[in-house]
Amino acid sequence: MKVLSVVSEVYPLIKTGGLADVAGALPGALKAEGVEVVTLVPGYPAVMAVLENASPVYWMDELFGGPATILSADVDGLDLFVIEAKHLYDRPGGPYAGPTGEWADNPFRFAALSRVAAQIAYGEVPGFVPDVLHAHDWQAGLLPAYLRYDGRRHAPSVITIHNLAFQGQYAPTLLPLLGLPPDAYAIDGVEYYGTIGYLKAGIAIADKVTTVSPTYANEILTDEGGMGLSGLLRVRGQDLVGILNGIDTSVWDPAADPLLANCFALDTLGERSLNKEALQRSLGLEPNRDRLLFGVVSRLSWQKGLDLLAGALPKLRQLGAQLALVGTGEPELQDAFASAARHFPRDIATVIGYDEKLAHQVQAGVDALLVPSRFEPCGLTQLCALRYGALPVVSRVGGLADTVRDVDIEAGAATGIQFSPPSVEQLEGALQRTADLWQDKSMWQTLQRNAMRQDVSWAQPAAKYAALYREIAGRRS
Ligand code: ADP
Ligand code: GLC
Repeated sequence: MKVLSVVSEVYPLIKTGGLADVAGALPGALKAEGVEVVTLVPGYPAVMAVLENASPVYWMDELFGGPATILSADVDGLDLFVIEAKHLYDRPGGPYAGPTGEWADNPFRFAALSRVAAQIAYGEVPGFVPDVLHAHDWQAGLLPAYLRYDGRRHAPSVITIHNLAFQGQYAPTLLPLLGLPPDAYAIDGVEYYGTIGYLKAGIAIADKVTTVSPTYANEILTDEGGMGLSGLLRVRGQDLVGILNGIDTSVWDPAADPLLANCFALDTLGERSLNKEALQRSLGLEPNRDRLLFGVVSRLSWQKGLDLLAGALPKLRQLGAQLALVGTGEPELQDAFASAARHFPRDIATVIGYDEKLAHQVQAGVDALLVPSRFEPCGLTQLCALRYGALPVVSRVGGLADTVRDVDIEAGAATGIQFSPPSVEQLEGALQRTADLWQDKSMWQTLQRNAMRQDVSWAQPAAKYAALYREIAGRRS
């Protein structure tokens, strides 16, 4: 079974969020299921910089305004096809935006990703003819549309929705420039509320639609959670499935993590507190094992509900707790947490930025990890927290609902605390419940052990993806 994974970011080459983690770890787990994955990614500078022994396998004179070369490469055990197209990707900045906002040519930069994927689907790149095409998010959403409207024989496709909040909508006048025929601009094609909808097209046309947790798969069928796409998603209901994400348990392994002050495992849980002290010291917090230490590792955005946490900081301090936050995003949220840290430096530490090492140290050092998201397709940080014995305190939405077991509901099998709905009041209640639980050291340790025993690996999810690929692999159209 051969699968082409089509994605705009992949860890460890280029990452802005959990999408990259998924794209980076799933191929390795699928190997054990007998599935061979090649990942197609744009050749951003960060990607080109780490390619060694890349070999050109396909040439295009014209890919949305300039020539392109498809390179075959192998980086960190990942088999890659990389699109080298300087006019689209060779520029400083992030994959989606530069210093002045989103790249204006994003409709073409990501249409190119789908265009190249389609050529691979038709067997034009020697040596790799996929049995299934797997598109991720809006950036690869046009792939099923190209497959349909090109009218060439091709393998079936799957699209995975990692986040319905990003849909990729562009002016209908782009249709011919994107290489789509007029009849593609239809309700069962790419048309979406008077625009060309990339994610919409993928959802409408792909053979299967997946999302990253069972609860999110249900939430997006509702008008509130569907962000404009609930009607279409209900139509696709038979072909829609939620498959939970895992994490790469070799990257996230508390027993052998080179980024930690002290490694630890279930049978050496006592040594975990050394990481807490090291974290408190390095961030300038009062070094005190007895103070309940909360952590946050997150994009700072409305989705993540961190404005609720900003509102609950007085309660957190009133409980005598501390907070270590590492994150980057909306300026108002950055300012709110930076200002709180300036006022109460022994209680609250804020590190604005993207810092992988610190993310590991927070997971290993804090007592509880806060994830108060308004919506959360899956969420990976709570899975890392479980593995590192930091109890997740989460809102009961999406993948958070599916991966954390609440202490008051599941007692002896619990792994953390849930609250609902995501509001300042409910979050304050959850902080209080966490502080109460903190008083009961033996119960706390029971939860920690349950958490660390939970299977957060890719093994089970990969088996589900493999079964899905096998279900459709025979279909050709
Ligand atoms: P999302 O993709 O919505 O941002 P996820 O929880 O699925 O949320 O994935 C976020 C990923 O990014 C995790 O691997 C997390 O550890 C990482 N991450 C988020 N913010 C930071 C940060 N400031 N520094 C380091 N890693 C971060
Ligand atoms: C998105 C979602 C997050 C999910 C990640 C990987 O970024 O916001 O919940 O874990 O994709 O699927």
